[in-house]
Amino acid sequence: MIFAATQQSIGLGVVLALTAGWVVYLLSSSKRTFDPGGELVHAPNRKTYFDDEGLETHRLTKYLWWAFATLTISAIGLPLYWLREPFRQQGAGFDRGTQYFEDRAVKRGEELFQASPGNPPTPREPHFGCEVCHGVEGVGGVAQFTLADPVNPDALPRPVQWSAPALNTVALRFRPEEITNILVYGRAGTPMPAWGVKGGGPMNDQQISDLVAYLTHIALDPKQVQDDNLAQYGTDGQKIFDGFCARCHTGGFSYGEPGPTGGGAFGPALDGGATARQFPAIEKQVDWVAKTAAYGQLYGVRGVSEGVMPHFENMLTPEQIQAVVDYERTL
Ligand code: HEC
Ligand code: HEC
Repeated sequence: MIFAATQQSIGLGVVLALTAGWVVYLLSSSKRTFDPGGELVHAPNRKTYFDDEGLETHRLTKYLWWAFATLTISAIGLPLYWLREPFRQQGAGFDRGTQYFEDRAVKRGEELFQASPGNPPTPREPHFGCEVCHGVEGVGGVAQFTLADPVNPDALPRPVQWSAPALNTVALRFRPEEITNILVYGRAGTPMPAWGVKGGGPMNDQQISDLVAYLTHIALDPKQVQDDNLAQYGTDGQKIFDGFCARCHTGGFSYGEPGPTGGGAFGPALDGGATARQFPAIEKQVDWVAKTAAYGQLYGVRGVSEGVMPHFENMLTPEQIQAVVDYERTL
């Protein structure tokens, strides 16, 4: 960083020279005495200059030398600035490419996710405490929620424990723009609040995008997740449904008061042969559960995707997806 030091001394030199110049000017001007208004007539910058005889002597040469000297200073100063440019870029992490910016986004997202400053604390980012509900590093947790009874509005709201899904697999289940939407608008009627300004929350677009970067960063390895899920759930369609689908498709499932299985909640009702009507060909239903469809795309016979149903090809094996689809068609 030799150059930085040289740059700084040159800069300091210029500042000192300028300051000295001003001091000299101010001192000399304070000695100057003008009649009031006299400077209009005798303004120093309007005094008659040398005539040609007076100027075209050593004077002109002297002034040209001065012009040359100042030109040289800028001619040398500018390249010196450019010489330093690589060091500046290095300092900004350009040599590490976009990775550098991604790392920083992840770090900021982590701060936002946490409930309180880490160790060492970085006071710049606020902490929105996602981990209070979703668990440290998003392993999943429980949210306290006060539930109003929609069927019986006169009943007093009562507290329930609403399970908050693991987020270390959320990037395996949702496209980045889908995660963004969940964060911005939250999930009405659940403990998940809206976080984005557009949804009425406190976070700006940058913070939402930092959180998406963090959630993508903590995503587990899909192969590992599939193996674990196969070990835990086997190819039992009902178990898989309870493990992965019921929280959206069975009312009350998330707080331990399940209504009719597949009776519909955040996701539509799947019972009464609904899925066989939506997907006359079973492969289309398998395809939907594995991949879903992007926002606005048609699916099934009469479906238009809201871009809010997770896809499961990274979470479940093809046999498990087939099994849960078979199960859904019996509901
Ligand atoms: C008050 C508790 C609470 C807080 C705080 C909270 N969440 Fe949630 N979040 C939930 C619950 C509960 C759900 C599940 C809602 C449902 O049942 O559909 C959820 C759902 C989600 C989902 C959708 C996951 C899925 O698989 O459907 C994402 C993504 C998410 N939260 C991210 C966050 C982030 C990021 C933060 C912090 C900015 C956060 N949440 C803060 C309770 C919370
Ligand atoms: C985060 C909530 C959520 C989870 C978890 C979820 N779904 Fe869905 N599902 C939805 C929503 C919402 C729709 C409606 C489609 C849309 O809005 O794009 C849907 C639609 C469907 C449909 C089409 C129904 C129709 O009539 O249009 C099927 C079939 C389905 N889901 C199966 C499943 C299966 C199987 C699982 C578990 C492996 C699952 N879902 C997990 C939210 C969810």
